[in-house]
Amino acid sequence: MDVQAVLKLADELVFSKTGKHLEYLQEAILRGAIEDRKYSQIAEEFHLSEGHIRDVACELWKILSNVLEENVSKANVRYILERAKFCNYSAIEKNYGTVNNVNICPQTPQSPQVTQQPQQTPTQLHIDLGDAPEIFSFYDRTPQLATLETWILQERCRLIALLGISGIGKTTLAVRLIDQIKTNFDYVIYRSLRFSPTLDATLTNLLQIFSEKTDIPQNIETQISQLINYLRQYRCLIILDDVQMLFSSGQLAGQYKTGYEDYQLFFKLIAEVCHNSCLLLNSWEKLRKLAKLEKANTPVRLLVLGSLGIAAKEILREHKLSDEDTWETLINTYQGNPLWLEYTATMIQELFGGSVSDFLECDAVILSESLQAQLDQQFQRLTQQELAIMIQLAKENDPVALPQILQAIPLSPSDLLNGMQSLGNRLLLDAKENGKTTFFSLNTVLKKYIKNRYNIVS
Ligand SMILES: Nc1ncnc2c1ncn2[C@@H]1O[C@H](COP(=O)(O)OP(=O)(O)O)[C@@H](O)[C@H]1O
Ligand SMILES: [Mg+2]
Repeated sequence: MDVQAVLKLADELVFSKTGKHLEYLQEAILRGAIEDRKYSQIAEEFHLSEGHIRDVACELWKILSNVLEENVSKANVRYILERAKFCNYSAIEKNYGTVNNVNICPQTPQSPQVTQQPQQTPTQLHIDLGDAPEIFSFYDRTPQLATLETWILQERCRLIALLGISGIGKTTLAVRLIDQIKTNFDYVIYRSLRFSPTLDATLTNLLQIFSEKTDIPQNIETQISQLINYLRQYRCLIILDDVQMLFSSGQLAGQYKTGYEDYQLFFKLIAEVCHNSCLLLNSWEKLRKLAKLEKANTPVRLLVLGSLGIAAKEILREHKLSDEDTWETLINTYQGNPLWLEYTATMIQELFGGSVSDFLECDAVILSESLQAQLDQQFQRLTQQELAIMIQLAKENDPVALPQILQAIPLSPSDLLNGMQSLGNRLLLDAKENGKTTFFSLNTVLKKYIKNRYNIVS
């Protein structure tokens, strides 16, 4: 049996009758009942008392009994929903969240109460994408889209971090994801934090979307609890992009700027408190403490976005480049980073008449000024110690282990280790394990950038 489809059916049925979606815990109990798990097991998983789970379950069976017009209990819910699934419930038509008259067919004739029920006030899909970019072309990312969809729709994750170096395609992927899954939500919201809004400003902005009339509380704590209420009441997908702008420059990765520390607590609450929504955070840098929250049995996930791979050929095709047999070399050199490839393709088009072979013959790696300017933004954020490590790694021809780096630069072991960890959190290092030793290196683009900017002669 497709548990997800049955849960979806139950949710639609409940919504059609009550105007409310199943809450996270109700859905978990239902899933548990379908999978024949004990209340005590569900309670343990959610760190709640068995008594509380039984109370919520009792209320849930009442709602379902009312909706399905027969006595529903933990013991028979699976059978009743499966039967309803195979019956004619196709009349449940979702029109941007509006559920029309329900026509399920248990053995009993259709219930006049259900079929003649006046239409519910439609719960419209509210989409507020703010200044999200319009996507004109989108290639591949099929596995990543599938992973995110599973995490959000099936595993009902509450907090997901989408990480990756600038230009790798986080924003594009998030906007494409919205298009793919938006009909599962009551609210879909996108906001960029590129101008570093305070938490107060962000929460005020979000709360206004849910209700223009309500007074927005002044106090952060009340704002957060009001927002969490909305996240419980509605199924929302909120994407906060450019989260790295909340972090300080010149400090180790993921340190909140002064006055922005509240965000950390906000993200933690979104992960830990029970609600029906998902917050997706896009960032260049890992979020501190998130790794601690991210465990298999928690609704928190982290996805690092890497190379676009050979799908990036489409980008080169769009730029009308020639010598297709050499495109893979170009893509590998520029790490499959769509933005780096776009900048480079423009240069090849303008200076080499579109010939990739001619460009590759010129030098192993050439960085256009736009690409370097783009990397400047990321390097400006590094501490002096991090920069010293990057410069040393740029000088190395082969991957090196920590003791070699320590020997080469005058840093204390603790500065070196913290610096390396922070560079890892900024996704700037390539690491490979060989036996018990980890060897570190830089990709060709970063190496070239450092050599250019810091006048390193190889
Ligand atoms: N999957 C993709 N297909 C086509 N173009 C892409 C894809 N991902 C990214 N791009 C292009 O690469 C550039 C950078 O993408 P963006 O999403 O802004 O990266 P990020 O948000 O990680 O900095 C954009 O011009 C975008 O159009
Ligand atoms: Mg972006």
